[in-house]
Amino acid sequence: MKPFCVALAGLGTVGGGVGQLLQTNANVIAARAGRELKLVAVSARDRSKARAMDLDSIAWEPSALALAERPDVDAIVEVIGGAEGIARALCEKALANGKTIVTANKALLATHGERLAQLAEDNGATLCFEAAVCGGIPIIKTMREALAGNRITRVQGLLNGTCNFILTRMSHDGMAFDEALDLAQKRGFAEADPTADVDGLDARHKLALLSTLAFGVRPIVDSISLEGIRRLTPLDFELADNLGFSIKLLGFAQRTAQGLEQRVSPCLVPLSSPLASVDDEVNAVEIDGDAVGPLTLIGRGAGAAATASAIVGDLIDCARGMAGLPWGVPTKDLSEMKALSAEEQKSRWYIRLDVQDRAGVLAELADILRDEDLSVETLWQQARSAAQEPVPVMIVTHEASAAALARAVVRFAALGAVRTPPLALRIEPEL
Ligand SMILES: NC(=O)c1ccc[n+]([C@@H]2O[C@H](COP(=O)([O-])OP(=O)(O)OC[C@H]3O[C@@H](n4cnc5c(N)ncnc54)[C@H](OP(=O)(O)O)[C@@H]3O)[C@@H](O)[C@H]2O)c1
Repeated sequence: MKPFCVALAGLGTVGGGVGQLLQTNANVIAARAGRELKLVAVSARDRSKARAMDLDSIAWEPSALALAERPDVDAIVEVIGGAEGIARALCEKALANGKTIVTANKALLATHGERLAQLAEDNGATLCFEAAVCGGIPIIKTMREALAGNRITRVQGLLNGTCNFILTRMSHDGMAFDEALDLAQKRGFAEADPTADVDGLDARHKLALLSTLAFGVRPIVDSISLEGIRRLTPLDFELADNLGFSIKLLGFAQRTAQGLEQRVSPCLVPLSSPLASVDDEVNAVEIDGDAVGPLTLIGRGAGAAATASAIVGDLIDCARGMAGLPWGVPTKDLSEMKALSAEEQKSRWYIRLDVQDRAGVLAELADILRDEDLSVETLWQQARSAAQEPVPVMIVTHEASAAALARAVVRFAALGAVRTPPLALRIEPEL
């Protein structure tokens, strides 16, 4: 059978991993694809750079867009990155030309995935993106194929390895956020500019894709409320642990009778939850299906080899002609579901305040809690010490709306005795 001919757009971490995997596992890949997967052309910015694979006898295209015009190319692996620019232009051109696109680019898919999928369907082309969510974890295929008979009610997970690494070091080693971020950068788990990871943007892109697959809704990134991990301190981990919780950056999407609840935020996760013990740069996703029940997938969410594993799996499906519709349903059938605003969502809450230790402060806090109808489950204040001023106060509330919590936080912050902006975190329920 004629080889399935592949082009690589991008030869960085992931592109290098894909090239290497195609070369080192060529035999097993050919056996599973039913034919040879042959790398025929590549493109990157700098031709003179040393690469992780042997590029002899592989065509070099100075412009990645030219890959979409080559008659000898069946599939293009887009691993350049970015929601706009060359990555978007290349995918649009290739799909319009009826070629297969396999991409790891969650920013592009979360922003333009609906249009790209429609373009693929209109032109008899294929769009695959297993690598875009949690790298090596086969979550896309699991949701789109293995769980296709279920109504999915909830999907949640640790979708960003950089954040999980930082939070683990803060929790286990008592590191401050900056120290843990610095370590993550030294170990290669965090970019020089960590914004997309630590402020939750990367996890939000992935959650938008998971929501679309789970609930058949259009991917709309802005409907997902967002909060990053910069404001956590080692004390929060100590207090959470005493309460029986771990703190994780959780991507959460749930279908409710009132609408779709979607958020990315640091949360207290019960130590009994499978997610609580997933540490370091590892990712995890939990899915609830009405037939299958709860299911948890855990594994490496990034890195050259794990991400290449997902990409090559997609290529094999394409070579066999077995890749399905990008979203599991025709793109035109994706629906709008009312998004619950952050204020409409309810939870138990953990609140940490740094207060001046003087008489009457707790009464001022209690007044606000009473006014906003926030019922207190636990209240703790650190013992007075000359060396520590202000002193931390922790409040755990019973279930209350995020709107009431937000009003209380604004009023706490306005008190003269409250010295730093209050921190409020959701407490996830025990299952
Ligand atoms: N890294 C991971 O573990 C991981 C995991 C899952 C998903 N992803 C996604 O995979 C994609 C690639 O990530 P990466 O970490 O491999 O990035 P990377 O190491 O920065 O590699 C990017 C590659 O794109 C090339 N490139 C940049 N601009 C280009 C242009 N205008 N034309 C042609 N090539 C261009 C670069 O060329 P030069 O080498 O010549 O500079 C480089 O080879 C992103 O969408 C990312 O979100 C990454």
